[in-house]
Amino acid sequence: MTAAASPNTRIEPASHATSGSEVLIGGCPVSDLARQFGTPLYVLDQASLTGMARAYQAMLDTYPGESLVLFAAKAHCNMGLCQLMQQLDCGLDLVSGGEVHTARQAGFNLANTLFNGNNKSDDELAYALAHGVGLISVDNATELEQLARVAMANGRHATILLRVAPGIECHTHDYIKTGHLDSKFGFDLSQIDAALKTISTANSAGNSPVLTLAGLHAHIGSQIFELQPYQDLATTMLAEYERIRRQHGLVMTHIDLGGGLGIKYTEADDPPSVETLAGTLVKALVDACDAVQYPYPKLLIEPGRSMVATAGTTLYEIGSFKHIPQLDKTYVAVNGGMGDNIRVALYQAQYTARVATRINEPHTKPVALVGRYCESGDILFDRLLVPETIAPGDLLIVYGTGAYNASMASNYNRVPRPATVLVKDGQAQVLVKRETWDDMTRLDLPLRPV
Ligand SMILES: Cc1ncc(COP(=O)(O)O)c(C=O)c1O
Repeated sequence: MTAAASPNTRIEPASHATSGSEVLIGGCPVSDLARQFGTPLYVLDQASLTGMARAYQAMLDTYPGESLVLFAAKAHCNMGLCQLMQQLDCGLDLVSGGEVHTARQAGFNLANTLFNGNNKSDDELAYALAHGVGLISVDNATELEQLARVAMANGRHATILLRVAPGIECHTHDYIKTGHLDSKFGFDLSQIDAALKTISTANSAGNSPVLTLAGLHAHIGSQIFELQPYQDLATTMLAEYERIRRQHGLVMTHIDLGGGLGIKYTEADDPPSVETLAGTLVKALVDACDAVQYPYPKLLIEPGRSMVATAGTTLYEIGSFKHIPQLDKTYVAVNGGMGDNIRVALYQAQYTARVATRINEPHTKPVALVGRYCESGDILFDRLLVPETIAPGDLLIVYGTGAYNASMASNYNRVPRPATVLVKDGQAQVLVKRETWDDMTRLDLPLRPV
């Protein structure tokens, strides 16, 4: 597998290139993209998206049972991306009625989707059941009873996973195994037997079963660089499968081990490649199954960030400068910020950025790179090195913004959200149009006299 096939280990998208003073993505010069589509602009590189999907699939193909990559759409969700994921033979992990609806509007085969979430509404569950969502991950005891009720009321049947908190917790570089995990998500393993009882009671209440338990589901965290938690996850989960088989005679057909693989946002990040991660996961699961001769369940994984983050970049136009002589400090503002990338203000996320229209000049001048929002905390980089010649009108490229940027974007200050374009082989197509000022008032109603 080439480096290009596992883009999560590099900062730039797979098709990133330079020509003279300028960056090209997907064969498109950034200044052409900015001229044609405006800025700020989310740019998605199709080669990176394809490379990640194929890298995951190649590793899952080494698993002796069936498998499916479910792209976690919360990382980046629009109709065109759903359609691309379908072309790449991926399913979708969806977490709201809105995401289910987006996939449906995109013509996605909903049989290849999983509906997740810890507090789904009756309407969301009914919508998912009516439109044939393949699997529903049930998060807790309340939701199990709720789903049985909604399915029965609508004359539907649901194939479910039980989301569990397996006592493995990861926060990037910090990995803990706990007996009891303090998480808002999922059943504690000690609650599984009660859940099985609820399922059996619900199934005997009507004329035909409403719930089929296909397996268990766990997701241990995000931006994970370590392999050991994944090994422990596969082993812990399979131990529970075996216990359920032994004590209840139930052989489960699916296992969902979640997402979480990290990506390289900065030079300091050193995530494992997809090949290493998925290879570890597959081996641990196969070993655990073989040890007790458990029939290989269909292996589902739900990568979000690693599928799309590196594919995405954001282009901004450099605007105003403010120099503070007493501090010898320069603030440089771009025409976006916390509205299109909340991750920096929200949890001090770190990115890499360069001046994309002066890429061949040394980046030696330290500046504070800030956004255009009315918030002192709207700072994208406390300290960014840029060329001495940087000037208004230059384009800044921020790498690694394909995940949890567009999907978390807001209209703070009533600033329209950027367009999203997909680039490949010198062609760019709009997946999401730029919002307009009229969109800012589209849902507003004038005050009525009372
Ligand atoms: C249940 C579940 N699955 C998958 C994901 C995707 O995780 P990541 O983007 O880290 O791969 C998340 C992210 O929070 C999640 O909560």
